[in-house]
Amino acid sequence: MADIVFVSFTGGAEKRTNVHAEAGINILDAARLGGVLIETPCDGAGTCGKCGVTIASSNECVLACSTKIRDGAVYIAPDYEAKNKSLRILSERLSLECEKEPFITKRYQDGKTNVYGGGRLLGSEAGDSTAFLYGLAVDIGTTTIVTELVNILSGETIASESALNPQTRYAQDVLGRIHFAGKEDGLETLYRDFVTVLNGMIRGLAARAGINSEYIYELVYSGNTTMLHLACDTDPSSLGRYPYTPKITGGLHVTDKNIAASPYALIYLPPVISAWVGADISSGILAAGLERESGVSLFVDIGTNGEMALAKDGRLAASSTAAGPAFEGMNISCGMRASAGAVEAFSIDENGSCSFHLIGGAAKAEGICGSGLLDIAGELVRTGLIDKRGRFVPPEDGAYPKLAGRMRPVDGKSAFFITDNVYVAQKDVRQIQLAKSAVRCGIELLLARFGNSARDVDRVIIAGSFGYHLNEKSLTGIGLLPEQFAGKVSFAGNTSLAGAAALLINAPLRDRVKEIAAGVEKIELAQDSSFERAFINYMSF
Ligand code: FES
Repeated sequence: MADIVFVSFTGGAEKRTNVHAEAGINILDAARLGGVLIETPCDGAGTCGKCGVTIASSNECVLACSTKIRDGAVYIAPDYEAKNKSLRILSERLSLECEKEPFITKRYQDGKTNVYGGGRLLGSEAGDSTAFLYGLAVDIGTTTIVTELVNILSGETIASESALNPQTRYAQDVLGRIHFAGKEDGLETLYRDFVTVLNGMIRGLAARAGINSEYIYELVYSGNTTMLHLACDTDPSSLGRYPYTPKITGGLHVTDKNIAASPYALIYLPPVISAWVGADISSGILAAGLERESGVSLFVDIGTNGEMALAKDGRLAASSTAAGPAFEGMNISCGMRASAGAVEAFSIDENGSCSFHLIGGAAKAEGICGSGLLDIAGELVRTGLIDKRGRFVPPEDGAYPKLAGRMRPVDGKSAFFITDNVYVAQKDVRQIQLAKSAVRCGIELLLARFGNSARDVDRVIIAGSFGYHLNEKSLTGIGLLPEQFAGKVSFAGNTSLAGAAALLINAPLRDRVKEIAAGVEKIELAQDSSFERAFINYMSF
């Protein structure tokens, strides 16, 4: 056995935790034994490089998941909250104009106020509280949670708040979460952490709006299918194995006594389309009005899991594709989430001078987030420093002389340096190729199902936080989107949240979103015989 000490930080306050563990286990397992939180986006697979802890005696930084504990050692865990405090979270969204026809209503009668849900009595309150009727739209993203407090009487959003999804500590993507949920206490941990953060957000929103959170009677949870399962304390294991059947199909209410809202609050779950195309996409299609558009419209939510829907004169099909974590800045040499110090935009001018923008106005580049990565790839492809196959090519004699010095070897292979310590390596370019090819394949195969090609598309709606920070030129430049989409792309922001807010205000929209979800053709890309060939084809720039 070994005795070790962890020094960790919560809200800046230092905490020491003694752990008595079996000799030979790794630092991460020992930390989890002691309840010490270490960020592990790849859940200990050894691929994300984010689980670093410092050995106090030597100041050496080691990966917790692949380093064995040493008896008597003191390990310093980074302050997870402080590290992610400056995370850029998108709350901008389009807004779906709708009538005020809410599911929740109130009526004052005989000295008390009755609260109804769809006309059914939910509970009663003493006195006249008819002036206080609120709901909460919640977009549960794999990485972030965004909430809006909605005055159901006026239809207005009166406050919004966002936070890092606390489950990112344990696993970065949905597959990792499903895997973690299958561990002892895994599901309980993921659910409990979500509820703790959501309740903190509810209290914060209520305090800022000057309302009592007990006047929140309905919440709409929009999110991918896995996030809905975890938020509802429901085992998501069936989502990870064939035939990928969700336990939660949505389009209904659930209750949860642990939520800091009215004691009889209801939670509405919009319908999910499949295990891999969730309620966030149903809500998004609703918010974007895709089902009502004539012509060919494409809706794409680019993220770790790329989801897309195609509409052609009212006919809808949807699919999803595993783009991997590169867009979240993970598995990338200098990758990081979109927080302060991340290179988020990059360009090269005609003289070969590079300019970039850092999130949060930071003085020094700390790393590269997903949007920066796509910009860099786009510019390096455009200037010929990356060839069609994704290999770095030294600038030709005389061309872009200023760029030559930025190409330096890392581990024997070429890398392109943005600053002295932030670079894109050859293996990172491969990750970008894999991610962009996955999304492009999804788009092309979806179009092919409808007998269409890229040139037939009338409009392209890019949804989601990541997409919002991308520019069309980079997307078409690296071939993530076909070049025929140029000039047709719009960035709609958080459509999942927009749909959730509309559902709060207008109950009949719930029938419409159910019809949408039921009518969507589900396209399984992996079962398409042309997928593999297309994937290899779209790897090239
Ligand atoms: S958790 Fe250790 S490398 Fe990802």
